[in-house]
Amino acid sequence: MTTDNGLPAGFLFGGDYSPEQWLSRPDILERDVAMMRDAHVNAVTLGVFSWAALEPREGDFQFGWLERIVDKLYGSGICTVLATPSGARPRWLAEKHPEVLRVRADRTRNLFGERHNHCYTSPVYREKVRLINGELARRFAGHPAVLMWHISNEYGGECHCPLCQDAFRSWLKAEYGSIGRLNEAWWTAFWSHTYGDFGQVESPSPRGDLHVHGLNLDWKRFVTAQTADFLRSEIRALRDAGARQPTVINLMEDYTGLNYAELAACVDLVSWDSYPRWHRGSDVTTAQRTGLQHDLMRTLRHQPFLLMESCLASPNWHEVSKIKRPGMLSGASLQAVAHGSDSVQFFQIRQGRGGSEKFHGALIDHYGGEDTRVFREAAEVGSILERLGEIAHAEVVSPAAVLWDMESRWAMEDAQGPRNDGLHYHETILKTHSGLRRSGLNVDVLDASGSLEGYEVVFVPMLYMFRHGLAGRLRRFTERGGTLVVTYWSGVAGETDLCFLGPAPHGLTDVLGLRREEIDALYDGEANLLEPAPGAGGLAGGRCYRCTHLAELVRLDGAVPILVYGRDFYRGRPALTVHPFGRGQAYYVCADAEADLYRDLAARIMRERGLRPILDDIADGLEVSSRTDGRTEYVFVQNYAERQIVPNLPANARYLLGGSGPLDPYGTVVFERPLD
Ligand code: GLA
Ligand code: ZN
Repeated sequence: MTTDNGLPAGFLFGGDYSPEQWLSRPDILERDVAMMRDAHVNAVTLGVFSWAALEPREGDFQFGWLERIVDKLYGSGICTVLATPSGARPRWLAEKHPEVLRVRADRTRNLFGERHNHCYTSPVYREKVRLINGELARRFAGHPAVLMWHISNEYGGECHCPLCQDAFRSWLKAEYGSIGRLNEAWWTAFWSHTYGDFGQVESPSPRGDLHVHGLNLDWKRFVTAQTADFLRSEIRALRDAGARQPTVINLMEDYTGLNYAELAACVDLVSWDSYPRWHRGSDVTTAQRTGLQHDLMRTLRHQPFLLMESCLASPNWHEVSKIKRPGMLSGASLQAVAHGSDSVQFFQIRQGRGGSEKFHGALIDHYGGEDTRVFREAAEVGSILERLGEIAHAEVVSPAAVLWDMESRWAMEDAQGPRNDGLHYHETILKTHSGLRRSGLNVDVLDASGSLEGYEVVFVPMLYMFRHGLAGRLRRFTERGGTLVVTYWSGVAGETDLCFLGPAPHGLTDVLGLRREEIDALYDGEANLLEPAPGAGGLAGGRCYRCTHLAELVRLDGAVPILVYGRDFYRGRPALTVHPFGRGQAYYVCADAEADLYRDLAARIMRERGLRPILDDIADGLEVSSRTDGRTEYVFVQNYAERQIVPNLPANARYLLGGSGPLDPYGTVVFERPLD
């Protein structure tokens, strides 16, 4: 059975496999396939770093080995996710055409080496990639085993070569039209940086400019645009040669080098590579952090995503390679599924004997047998996924969204002030996201350009940059009945990072019923207290909350304080406020409050709006999510605490996994209920 886009009906289960490292050991390749089958593997990713084996000499394409393994796997019921090999180039290519190698910000060109070391502008690199992608497509376009095209690997990095400088200048010319407009946008009168023409522009460099914020911002935008253009050219090569299978890219956790929203628009499916540091500190926090990332990946295309890579035991590149405790492999794998993944894939199926990843966790380790804890636990995950197959392709419907915007982050974190010792943006996003999740809602994680249509609650944490039209969209969202939550340090600058003149947060002061007057920064270790405002009940039974790092002082113009500061010269001044606007409400969080504030605020908003949680009374340490196919809702409950928890589960639901009793650490329960 397949779906509309040709993917198998159930979940994909498997991972990255590198037969090119084992071509001299046919016995091992043979045994691997049998072991994969025993572990319920139904899909492997091939060819990610195989260029040197696929084209050992220029123009000499050797695809026989790949074809044989694709066929052999398929004969055992295992499909292929086929990669384009552009993530690492063969030596002959760099030797003949040094222009394909990257130039660093200090303008020195890299030697051949490592991977992901290529210029995205180089016409030679693009042409060589076009040729090999075309050959692969011609060979595998109609192959029933090949499910999708995995384009390159973890796009990232930047190149400052002369070709990239020229492309950057052309990009700027198209953006600004005249050098006068660029000078204005980048505020170049500061320190006498005025440009006379586009030819004078150079990418940021430690040997030149690092503090022209508009330049830094546009350079990052250009790097994204150039990478997206390269990605599109890779896809075009496949399509021109007749490939029709869907395309996918694999993204990284909290990677700030690219604006993923733009890359996601170029492909059919988004996937990501998840390597959480489980068992370092609290697993509850690690689960929240990973859940945020799953939600981001799903929201990038508003559709189920794929978990393309994850680790079976421990990634060897963590500072400390702590192995997963029994049960964690299943917990981590099912968390991805709960948040909308249609696959659980691992890096890697088999460990190599050499190379920097020889100690990275694998389904088949150097010992080579099935009688290992990791193999047993992996096979168990595979069989659970078979049992849960009907959930694959079900959507995640979220009444709440958090805006997490890369362009705004670039600008905000590049600025000097108000806290060069750390603005804690990621943590703030995490606190708002997990506040909503802990209250029992599915949450989408949107880029600031994303549509707000259909959401009941939108959180806007530290959105420093308001791009054109955003304030108006937030205003209309509230006016029409939405609940808006904005925090400190929002609406400061426009899209070229020029600060707005006039009252702030820009364009929203009447919506929020206040304006920002000052922002105070606290040293590490300092804290203030947020207390119930006199005469108001506070948030949750009158409790107080700590705040750290940043604290804004606002002047009210209609908003009502719920919490006030407890200390310092601004004791008694508003710290959390609410203001009705149109048919909706607008909250303002003035300070970097502890996580519980966001949970209690989410609970209050849910009461006000009559929003039902996925599950009532969610104990701390539990994670609750749901997916739906339009008729049935599948509810996932997971325990990330170190103790058993008895969740508040329905007694007579249909349980697809586990039951209504106590839930062990890392345990998962899945039940279904009809949608009302
Ligand atoms: C990344 C890469 C893989 C591999 C893993 C190891 O995600 O895509 O090729 O290097 O890391 O964790
Ligand atoms: Zn370049």
